[in-house]
Amino acid sequence: MSLDLSHPSCEDLRRTARRRIPKFAFEYLDSATGRELGLKINRDALDAIGFMPSVLCGRTTADLSCELMGERYDLPFGMAPVGMSGLIWAGAERMLAKASVAANIPYCLSSVAVASPEDIAPHIGQNGWFQHYPVNSGELRRKMLPRIKAAGFHTLVMTVDVPEESRRERQRRANLTVPPKFDLRTIAEMLRHPTWCVAHLREGVMPRMRFFDDYVPQRGRESFTHAGALIRGIPDWTYLRELREEWDGKLVVKGVQRPDDAARMVSEGVDCIWVSNHSGRQFEAGPAVIDQLPLIRAGVGPEVPLIYDSGVAWGLDVMRALAKGASFVMLGRAFLYAVAAFGARGIEHLIHVLRSDIEANMSQLGAERLDQLSHYLLETQRAFEPALPPQKAVSMK
Ligand SMILES: Cc1cc2nc3c(=O)[nH]c(=O)nc-3n(C[C@H](O)[C@H](O)[C@H](O)COP(=O)(O)O)c2cc1C
Repeated sequence: MSLDLSHPSCEDLRRTARRRIPKFAFEYLDSATGRELGLKINRDALDAIGFMPSVLCGRTTADLSCELMGERYDLPFGMAPVGMSGLIWAGAERMLAKASVAANIPYCLSSVAVASPEDIAPHIGQNGWFQHYPVNSGELRRKMLPRIKAAGFHTLVMTVDVPEESRRERQRRANLTVPPKFDLRTIAEMLRHPTWCVAHLREGVMPRMRFFDDYVPQRGRESFTHAGALIRGIPDWTYLRELREEWDGKLVVKGVQRPDDAARMVSEGVDCIWVSNHSGRQFEAGPAVIDQLPLIRAGVGPEVPLIYDSGVAWGLDVMRALAKGASFVMLGRAFLYAVAAFGARGIEHLIHVLRSDIEANMSQLGAERLDQLSHYLLETQRAFEPALPPQKAVSMK
């Protein structure tokens, strides 16, 4: 049966992923922190964003391409960094990289992925971004940055919303520890998912953080401990300033929720602000991050690129974020549900689903360009004056 019939939405991919992978891997991917209020707050706020369709617009063909930090992408969304993707499904990072090139969208490789930048380099072309967690010494950072650049990653994303590990209760109940322990319960769970095990055997790589391996005395399990506790540093403004001086490519800061933080980052020379609350994985009592987006846009002005993520699961969500002031949208879990459900085919399918959903909904609105979307927001939800009038209204004059 075609995936379009059996899995028409991201929610369907999530359901299949849950069946195909061990519980500890699924809970790692799916969970948020605390009572997981953050997930609900984000979802409710996204759902509350409505549009006013316009009719008699003739046939509309939506142009979904967009420019971000000087690069042209075919779609307004990309792949957010997901640590240990290769644990969720063997070879996930490579599959994501290849799919990002095929669809011409960006893929941000996590510094705590299973694959190293060198593993991904042959597959990523110009579409690779690299995510950086602050490390505990400038010396270490200065060793890492040229390596990332040499592997072909031109955009660096510094994540600032993980000052400490968060407590993810669901993950704990599923027996996932860092470093992972292979006790009877974990092994039994793995054996209940033979396809997942075979994929790992075929890949032949023990899931571990290969980028960090080179910076710790003993490889393997130790890289988990070091990345989590020893290598990880505390993000602060001095760190950001030093990083800006040392990295001559594009610099994005990820995990921003406050307009004053965003404005200060721009004045520090950051190229792009990534508005995100890690999808409720770090702190659950903050605002719905989509509601912060227009405030941040108003603060930094129309020119600064803003990326939005957290809770995006439908093409309509991508449109909501763009209408609220984002220049681009990223998805984390959705792409990993897709890989876990159907491997490379799943990623391709998810991209198709998101694209089709955006096209269908834009034609309902009568919109042809992404920069028109804010015009179609319900009157009560317009937080800032949109830049351009709807194209159809113009052509009627
Ligand atoms: C399993 C998992 C691992 C993640 N690992 C990282 C990471 O290594 N670095 C990072 O900056 N963000 C990480 N994130 C956060 C994502 O980049 C992104 O902000 C978030 O998943 C977006 O929300 P969504 O999953 O609702 O799309 C992770 C998210 C998940 C679900």
